[in-house]
Amino acid sequence: MNIGILGTGNLAVTLGRAWAPAGDPLLVTGRDPARARRAADQIGPAAEAVDPAGFAGRADVVVVAVAWSGLEDAVSLIGGTRGTLAGTTVIDCTNPVDFATGEVLPRSGSAAEVVALAAPGAHVVKALHLFAGASWPYAGPAETAPVVAISGDDQGALDLTAVLIGKLGARTAVVGGLAGSRQLEEAAGFVTRVVAAGHNPRFAVPDVDPALVAAARAAKD
Ligand SMILES: NC(=O)c1ccc[n+]([C@@H]2O[C@H](COP(=O)([O-])OP(=O)(O)OC[C@H]3O[C@@H](n4cnc5c(N)ncnc54)[C@H](OP(=O)(O)O)[C@@H]3O)[C@@H](O)[C@H]2O)c1
Repeated sequence: MNIGILGTGNLAVTLGRAWAPAGDPLLVTGRDPARARRAADQIGPAAEAVDPAGFAGRADVVVVAVAWSGLEDAVSLIGGTRGTLAGTTVIDCTNPVDFATGEVLPRSGSAAEVVALAAPGAHVVKALHLFAGASWPYAGPAETAPVVAISGDDQGALDLTAVLIGKLGARTAVVGGLAGSRQLEEAAGFVTRVVAAGHNPRFAVPDVDPALVAAARAAKD
């Protein structure tokens, strides 16, 4: 599976490095070819810097790792606005958050929905925005593996995203459709505000009775 990474910054490199050992080819692109080459070099031999024009045609899945302010430009750069991503799973990792205040910047909707609007026909999934790229790969005990909450409307795209999250050593929780993505993005704002208040957000959510979780799982299965 060719994993296309749109973006050449920190998240692009950290995710690329975490996926590289699984052996999938990694295609890296961005608006600056030199930065794409540098990111590919930093990821290692599994990665190749690719021209934006040919990127979408070669990627089996596209991981969007760009700044919120450049999101629509970046989708346009790879032809998404012209339909090059139609039918492709597109994983949006963007945090549309003012990290100084924790405010989510779009007045309504979400970055993931911005991607879906900009890229007609793309199967967009919101995922991997909440954990720092440096969290991956997780190599600890399975029972304490991070749970990555994701949302999206296409079952195949959700399944593919879960496979990629599994390759990072994490678990996946599908929490809703794309229209619910703002809640996931608000979670990043919430985390920012808890940290700013001087606390570890790990302790800002309840530790739910495992019996309740098991019952929910049984009902789902
Ligand atoms: N870093 C993490 O651990 C992490 C974790 C989860 C989510 N995220 C989210 O992932 C996204 C990327 O984060 P990052 O840490 O990788 O940021 P970063 O290192 O600053 O990289 C930002 C990337 O966005 C690109 N970009 C900005 N404006 C653009 C435009 N108009 N057109 C095309 N590309 C543009 C940059 O290209 P240039 O290099 O050419 O400027 C660069 O490749 C952000 O939304 C962030 O909130 C980051």
